[in-house]
Amino acid sequence: ETDEDLAIRPPVVTVMGHVDHGKTALLDAIRNAKVAEGEAGGITQHIGAYQIITEHEGIDRAMTFIDTPGHEAFTAMRARGAQVTDIAILVVAADDGIMPQTIEALNHAQAANVPIVVAVNKIDKPGANPQKVRQQLTEFGLVAEEYGGDVMFVDVSAKNKTGIKEILDAVLLVADAALDMRSNPNKDARGVAIEARLDKGRGAVATVLIQSGTLHVGDSIVAGTAYGRVRAMADENGVAVLAATPSRAVQVQGLSSVPRAGDTFLVIEEDRTARQIAEKREAAERNALLAKARKRISLEDFT
Ligand code: GTP
Ligand code: NA
Ligand code: MG
Repeated sequence: ETDEDLAIRPPVVTVMGHVDHGKTALLDAIRNAKVAEGEAGGITQHIGAYQIITEHEGIDRAMTFIDTPGHEAFTAMRARGAQVTDIAILVVAADDGIMPQTIEALNHAQAANVPIVVAVNKIDKPGANPQKVRQQLTEFGLVAEEYGGDVMFVDVSAKNKTGIKEILDAVLLVADAALDMRSNPNKDARGVAIEARLDKGRGAVATVLIQSGTLHVGDSIVAGTAYGRVRAMADENGVAVLAATPSRAVQVQGLSSVPRAGDTFLVIEEDRTARQIAEKREAAERNALLAKARKRISLEDFT
């Protein structure tokens, strides 16, 4: 692989923060949608992934956003060794200030070595105190540029759609300054399953994030202990996709079973080999579970 094989891929941005601080509302404002309003109880229950195009310094730039329903999913993915995000937007409501899950999110991002941009949200609210948020986060090592640090804080209102362009610019500035965003699209795809479920009509449906290479309809893949040929792919709007390039998140149909969040996937030339790999993994998992159960039983025998 030489430099000429490499192309810039869009940054993958995860939106994290305390419950109800406005993660989904911010994403809605970014992509001009209304997901938050339609959510049952206003609670995000599944991982959403969207790509948008924005103009940054005169150039059209793509960005992929991942909305998390809480940290469990993110933690589960990290536990499986999957690093899905390049940058984290930490959303903090300016009326509430930092809350327990703000700090949890911060810890996750820092542990994963992911640069953070802070969106101080809900600045339209009467009780908003965006400066206090900056002061509070200083204690956790996030020092705003205006206080002599190197973290970008952007005041936003997801409700009034203010500060949206500024937060996108901040994320792209950080991506360009801190990260090597090059990858080779001209090879077999690899990536991570970020969410999956069993659909009545369509069978196993997995949302996968492409991390390198290009995934094509017809490719044979292994994802964790699931395998199969990609029968169809769709983007976040349900539009059919034939080829998915790095940093794209697509829904994939055709897997034998439902992979778990954080399972890595890769393209395998031969269908048969894909099945064999998946079956080997499944056997290994079964054996590990059995060994664990046996250990527990033998411990119980002696206590
Ligand atoms: P979870 O997914 O449940 O963790 O919540 P979330 O962080 O995605 O928050 P969500 O986007 O669902 O917003 C929570 C509530 O805050 C909703 O009632 C939003 O309308 C409201 N909200 C979000 N952003 C703003 C804002 O900028 N200003 C005001 N006034 N309200 C906002
Ligand atoms: Na909510
Ligand atoms: Mg949400």
